[in-house]
Amino acid sequence: MQLEQKNVLLGVSGGIAAYKTPDLVRKLTAQGANVRVILTASAEHFVSPLSLQAVSGNKVSSQLLDEEAEAGMGHIELARWADIFIIAPATANIIAKLTYGLADDLLTTLALATSAPIFIAPAMNQQMWAAAPTAENMQKLRERNTHILGPASGEQACGDVGYGRMLEPELITKALCDYCHEQSNEAIFSGVNIMITAGPTREAIDPVRYISNHSSGKMGFALAKAAQALGANVTLVAGPVSLESPAGVMRNNVVSAQDMFDAVHNSIAKQDIFIACAAVADYKLEQVSTQKMKKQHGDDKLSLCMVQNPDILKSVAALEQAPFTLGFAAETQDVETYAKSKLVKKNLDMIAANDVSNSELGFNSDQNALIVLTEEKSHNLSPKSKDLLAMELLKLLHSEYCEKHGSRD
Ligand code: PMT
Repeated sequence: MQLEQKNVLLGVSGGIAAYKTPDLVRKLTAQGANVRVILTASAEHFVSPLSLQAVSGNKVSSQLLDEEAEAGMGHIELARWADIFIIAPATANIIAKLTYGLADDLLTTLALATSAPIFIAPAMNQQMWAAAPTAENMQKLRERNTHILGPASGEQACGDVGYGRMLEPELITKALCDYCHEQSNEAIFSGVNIMITAGPTREAIDPVRYISNHSSGKMGFALAKAAQALGANVTLVAGPVSLESPAGVMRNNVVSAQDMFDAVHNSIAKQDIFIACAAVADYKLEQVSTQKMKKQHGDDKLSLCMVQNPDILKSVAALEQAPFTLGFAAETQDVETYAKSKLVKKNLDMIAANDVSNSELGFNSDQNALIVLTEEKSHNLSPKSKDLLAMELLKLLHSEYCEKHGSRD
C-alpha cells in the first residue's frame, strides 16, 4: 500500500468526468490513503456528495463559509492536513482560477492555503484544451511545479475526439503512488556506511549435518535494498540463503556464527550503523565431528554438547567507537518485555521486536510487523511486505540516528 497514512485531499470540479471520482476515492483508499473530498458548486451536478462521503468515510465539504465544517475541520486546517492535493477533474475554469490565484470558493481557497504538492487531472472538450488561454495557463502552472496528470485522448462526452479526457482513476492513483515512492527514496543516508547481517547461520555437527533455523534472509535483504535506495553504502553479511544480492550492495557470504562474527569485525570500524537482522545460532557444537557420525546400535538417544557462540551484536555495541546499533528480537511471547530487556542488556540504540508466533509474519514469510523500541520510545509498524516495512524502519532509524549524531540532512 504505497499511499499508507498519506492524507489525500481530492478537489472535484464540475465536469462530466466527476462521475468517476467515487471510483478514484476507492482506489486511493485501497492504497492506504486517508481521503477527504471537496466539491465545487457545479461538481455537485455531476456527482453526489453522499456517495463520495460513503466511499471516503469522511464528510464532504463544498462551502467556504460553512459554519458546521469550520467548527470541525476548518478550511485552513484542511489545507494543512493534506499531504497531497489532487484536483480531478480540473475544468478549464478551475485551471484559469488556479493560474491567477482566485480564491472565490473552498477548492480554490485551499489551493492557495495548502503547502502540499498540487496535482491536476484536466478534463474538458478537446477544443477548450487546445485553446490558447488554456495552453498559456497550463504553461504557467507547470512552471510553478504543479503536477499535471493527462489529459488522455479519445472520444469525448460531446462526441468530439481528441485530448481532454480525464485520466482513468487507476492511472491517477498510480501517478500518486509513484510520486510518493520517489519522495520516500530521498538519499537520506547519502555517505553513511551501513552493515546489515541477514539470514540464518549453520552450526556444523559433522561434515554432512548442521543445526540452523528457518530464517530466509528476506527481511535483512529488504533492509539492504532499502538502505541502498536511501543512498547508504551497504555491506550485507549474509548467512546461507538463496536470495540474489540487491543491486549496488557489497555482499559477504558466511556460514557459521563464528564466520559472521569474523566478517562483521573485519570491517565494523568503517561502519556508521550496524543492523543485526540475522537469526544467529546461540550455540554451536563443542566438538564438530570430522567424520560422518554413525548411528549407534542399541542406543536410541544422542546427546550433543554445545557451547555458546559469541554474541555479534553485543560485541559491536560494546566497541569503544561503536556504530549506531539496531538489533532484532524474535520472540514468541511477551514480545515487548523480552525485546526491551535485550535492548538494555546488549546496550543497543534501537531494537525491532518480531512476534514470530504468527506463521504469516517473521521467519520465511513475505510479510512482517514490528514493534520498534528505543530507551524512551515505542513505535508499532503494522503488517506489510518486508520491502515496505524495511523502508519504514529505516526512516525511523534515520530520525533516531540524526537525533544522536546531529542532523546529516
Ligand atoms: O530472514 P527472514 O525469514 O526474513 O526472517 C526475519 C527474522 C525473523 C529472522 C528477523 O526479522 C529477526 O527477527 N531476526 C532476529 C532473530 C533472532 O535471532 O533474534 P534473537 O532474539 O535470537 O537475537 C537478538 C539479536 O541479537 C538479533 O539482532 C541477532 O541478530 C543478534 N545476535 C544473536 C545471537 C548472536 N550470537 N549474535 C547476534 O548478533
